[in-house]
Amino acid sequence: MIQFNDTYAGQFDLAPYQEIVTKIHTMIRNKTGAGNDFLGWVDWALNYDEEEFNRIIDAAERLKDETDVVVVCGIGGSYLGARAAIEMIKGLYPSRGPEIIYAGNTFSGTYMKQVMDYIKDKRTVVNVISKSGTTTETALAFRILREHMEKKYGREGARERILVTTDKARGVLKEFADHEGYETFVIPDDIGGRYSVMTAVGLLPMALAGINIREVMKGFLKANHDLNTPDLEKNSAYRYAVERRILQARGYDVEMYVSYEMQMRSFMEWLKQLFGESEGKEGKGILPDSVIFSTDLHSLGQFIQEGKKVLFETVIEVKEPGCALTVPFDQENADGMNYLADRRLDWVNSRAMEGTLKAHKETGNVPNLIITVPDMKPETFGYMCYWFFVACAMTCYMLNINPFNQPGVEVYKRNMFKLLGKPGF
Ligand code: PA5
Repeated sequence: MIQFNDTYAGQFDLAPYQEIVTKIHTMIRNKTGAGNDFLGWVDWALNYDEEEFNRIIDAAERLKDETDVVVVCGIGGSYLGARAAIEMIKGLYPSRGPEIIYAGNTFSGTYMKQVMDYIKDKRTVVNVISKSGTTTETALAFRILREHMEKKYGREGARERILVTTDKARGVLKEFADHEGYETFVIPDDIGGRYSVMTAVGLLPMALAGINIREVMKGFLKANHDLNTPDLEKNSAYRYAVERRILQARGYDVEMYVSYEMQMRSFMEWLKQLFGESEGKEGKGILPDSVIFSTDLHSLGQFIQEGKKVLFETVIEVKEPGCALTVPFDQENADGMNYLADRRLDWVNSRAMEGTLKAHKETGNVPNLIITVPDMKPETFGYMCYWFFVACAMTCYMLNINPFNQPGVEVYKRNMFKLLGKPGF
């Protein structure tokens, strides 16, 4: 389902890495490496809770005709995956299903006020998502949203429209939800935030947006089967993981994710979190960044072509984006565009990709890795998630990094809590 084209690193011999890859593959599958208590995602497609899965579908079905907007309230791994899926699969201006907007991912009062003004007269559902239940950004936004929902629908009515995704038993959010009688969905103990998109964390917002989550899970399961081999010739995710390491050893410390589809922007934001938060520790790691082409060829394109040679590109190519808009013929041709009349815009886009690859690789000497996916459908999204999860685990373990913790994130929190006067800080 995913083709990985290693035209650059294919020039290198991957065979010397086979032994370490085989060892790490066993560590991942047998859950014996660092952070092994967070490897629940590995066999999640086989073990997920079918009863809860159906409850997610039921909740979405119950609310779909009575909802204009769903506010997904969460930060980091508690919203990026859902947003990646919804935008990739449904596009940026979907004509059907409730609109999904995001809160709880900022302290900006200006933004939050805009959210509150926007939902004021709309039929609203809130899905608050927090594994710890204590994340300040999310807790503050939820308090504001809850007050609004109770004023608008009454305490009883709000209960029908507030859905809580959190730990199965612990944390203030779980206690509060039980006390108020909100319906709750579980983030499993052994799955960390940025690996949680296939749990209720991502699936509930996806279902609320009208996405077929059975198809998403089908793709996730398929990748689990396809990638259950350490063989570098057969496992493209592992090849990608190794080639990142080879490129970094050659001095490329930045990975630029590239897409030619606007609706893949959030997917790349999710990738930046997945790789940045998993790998960037102990003074190690590749800095992930992202661009949309051709849009950003008119900004960062200059740096990529001629700037300091610190980066390689990882292009996510979508074979069939799914929309067949063609360029109209214009009798007067005042803009001189008739040479493209009757051409599909996608055809123009793929020529832009071909030309850019040539410019960056041949003239700019920028290594390019190309990940080709068939489309932007639910099954493909599920497949890609597993593909990137195992690639990330492999590439981190190759660096001797625990892919599943994020100790550095605590530093800003401690300083901020002290400044906010939080008891105990
Ligand atoms: O990947 C992670 O673990 C983090 O990005 C968390 O998802 C993020 O900090 C939100 O945490 P929580 O779900 O506990 O509110």
